[in-house]
Amino acid sequence: MSQKQWTAVDRYFTDLLAPADPALAKALKTSAAAGLPPINVSPNQGKLLMLLARLQGARSILEIGTLGGYSTIWLARGLPPGGRLVTLEAEARHAEVARANIADAGLADIVELRLGPALDTLPKLAAEGRGPFDLIFIDADKPNNPDYFAWALQLSRRGSLIIADNVVRSGEIIDRSSRDPGILGVRRFSELVAAEPRVAATAIQTVGSKGYDGFAMVLVVADP
Ligand code: SAH
Ligand code: DHB
Ligand code: MG
Repeated sequence: MSQKQWTAVDRYFTDLLAPADPALAKALKTSAAAGLPPINVSPNQGKLLMLLARLQGARSILEIGTLGGYSTIWLARGLPPGGRLVTLEAEARHAEVARANIADAGLADIVELRLGPALDTLPKLAAEGRGPFDLIFIDADKPNNPDYFAWALQLSRRGSLIIADNVVRSGEIIDRSSRDPGILGVRRFSELVAAEPRVAATAIQTVGSKGYDGFAMVLVVADP
């Protein structure tokens, strides 16, 4: 089993079940042209996010880590009429690309992009009385995942769904001696989730066009 095969199988399912439309294709094209790192979710992962939003009946979504807006577009497409999505991005260049992509996808009135470090914006959202959010997607700088989880809980209600991307990192996650701040952040995140009595959670390994990684799903089962 190899990256080549994972990519080919992803292409097979993507072509069948999550084919690109003009807005998604343009989002990837403009992101690449602007030199953004190609670390967006894959098409079939994006479709999973959309389906999870639908299954959740989400009317309000919070995303931490916008990049060029690719996952944002998938998530926003899972919202019903009147739904809203807030997405947080620290890099002005990424936010500029994302804003254009979100507008091109016809989602400008649904998506609110907040520019700035998420740990500055999250307390502001709380102070503004935003939330609780029905679905929260954590996909920014991994060293801050422990703090993002704490804020996600704070901005949740019983029944909210928290999804965290990149919790496996080619298996590096089980390296207890790792000094990589990203690995340390994701390990600490997983430990905090495990110790949190107000949630029920699991984590799933994935292979595909984005390599070997995985995601965590955390359901808030008690009032935070
Ligand atoms: N969710 C996107 C990928 C996000 S990549 C998708 O799948 O399409 C991670 C993003 O988090 C990058 O754009 C990076 O600039 C942003 N980021 C990094 N540190 C951040 C911080 N402290 N606050 C907010 N965003 C941050
Ligand atoms: C990285 C970040 C991501 O969100 C991702 O999906 C893949 C890679 C990274 O920082 O390397
Ligand atoms: Mg990611």
